Amino acid sequence: MNIERILVTGSAGFIGFHLSKSLLDVGYEVLGIDNLNDYYDPKLKLARLEQLKPYKNFKFEKIDISDRENLNKAFTDFKPQKVVNLAAQAGVRYSIENPYAYMDSNLVGFLNVLELCRHNKVEGLIYASSSSVYGGNTKNPFSVEDRVDNPISLYAATKKANELIANTYSHLYGLRSTGLRFFTVYGPWGRPDMAYYLFTEKIANGETIPVYNNGNMKRDFTYIDDIIAGTRSAIDKNYPCEIFNLGNHRSEELMDVVHLIEENLDKKAIINFQPMQPGDVKESFADIEKSTKLLGYKPTTNVDIGIRNFINWYNEYTT
Ligand SMILES: NC(=O)c1ccc[n+]([C@@H]2O[C@H](COP(=O)([O-])OP(=O)(O)OC[C@H]3O[C@@H](n4cnc5c(N)ncnc54)[C@H](O)[C@@H]3O)[C@@H](O)[C@H]2O)c1
Repeated sequence: MNIERILVTGSAGFIGFHLSKSLLDVGYEVLGIDNLNDYYDPKLKLARLEQLKPYKNFKFEKIDISDRENLNKAFTDFKPQKVVNLAAQAGVRYSIENPYAYMDSNLVGFLNVLELCRHNKVEGLIYASSSSVYGGNTKNPFSVEDRVDNPISLYAATKKANELIANTYSHLYGLRSTGLRFFTVYGPWGRPDMAYYLFTEKIANGETIPVYNNGNMKRDFTYIDDIIAGTRSAIDKNYPCEIFNLGNHRSEELMDVVHLIEENLDKKAIINFQPMQPGDVKESFADIEKSTKLLGYKPTTNVDIGIRNFINWYNEYTT
């Protein structure tokens, strides 16, 4: 097998951790980079890194991707063949509160990664985009052929900007890049700011859960293992310049997911129904035809199994 050196940014994050682990399991050399910020409890980020420590092919550096000088040093020392950029300020609602965090990480940081890929002759960049670029799109399912010129949150606008800038770098400098529009990724070691995790925490503690738009929301919940399989395939294929949807191709009623959490915790939720939040979308649903054709992407985990796995992990992690 051809062992490659891969630099993963955001490696202490939910997806970055799982991706790093999956690459290390098959012998890749991985340099993980993360600024370990406190957008959510950094203890979870450190606990994920603990799981990666035993791998001798893993190195970690605490670097902010908006810090050009230190990022440059990491690139020149490690000489990655491929780079996966997952470091970003995530979250739709928080972009209303703290817009500059999105500019620094998602735009300045992303440009730094592109420039360093270009100058270090990196063979391919795989980067996280998001289903949020579809904004208020009402045509279902969401296809990569759809126009996405109307983002409804700053977060979405930065992700769309990433796609445009990566396209320019492919055109100008021949930098190979693949953007992955992830759809509501969930699973063990997941993100505490996301609804399924917040609900679990609050239901387990007997606290009230806020449910927006009176529960009238649908999400294409995508299990982490399926996301990792799709991302690994994108790394292998290394297309010249592509965008893919990585979703489950099933749009779940939010309230059905609340019921699954209740069943798995064996506890009833106390619900406070609230209006729609600014920046949020009512529904997401991925068209994965192109991903299936070009990446061989076929999600296999339905939400019943996925939520059960998540709650099993949550119970273990919190006791
Ligand atoms: N989880 C999802 O449902 C989802 C959906 C769509 C897109 N995405 C995107 O996928 C990527 C990974 O998401 P995740 O769910 O693992 O989120 P996460 O927040 O768990 O991981 C991101 C990691 O990047 C780090 N980071 C943030 N800014 C940084 C910076 N400037 N320099 C260095 N490190 C920085 C954070 O500390 C964090 O550990 C992100 O780009 C996110 O926008 C995620």
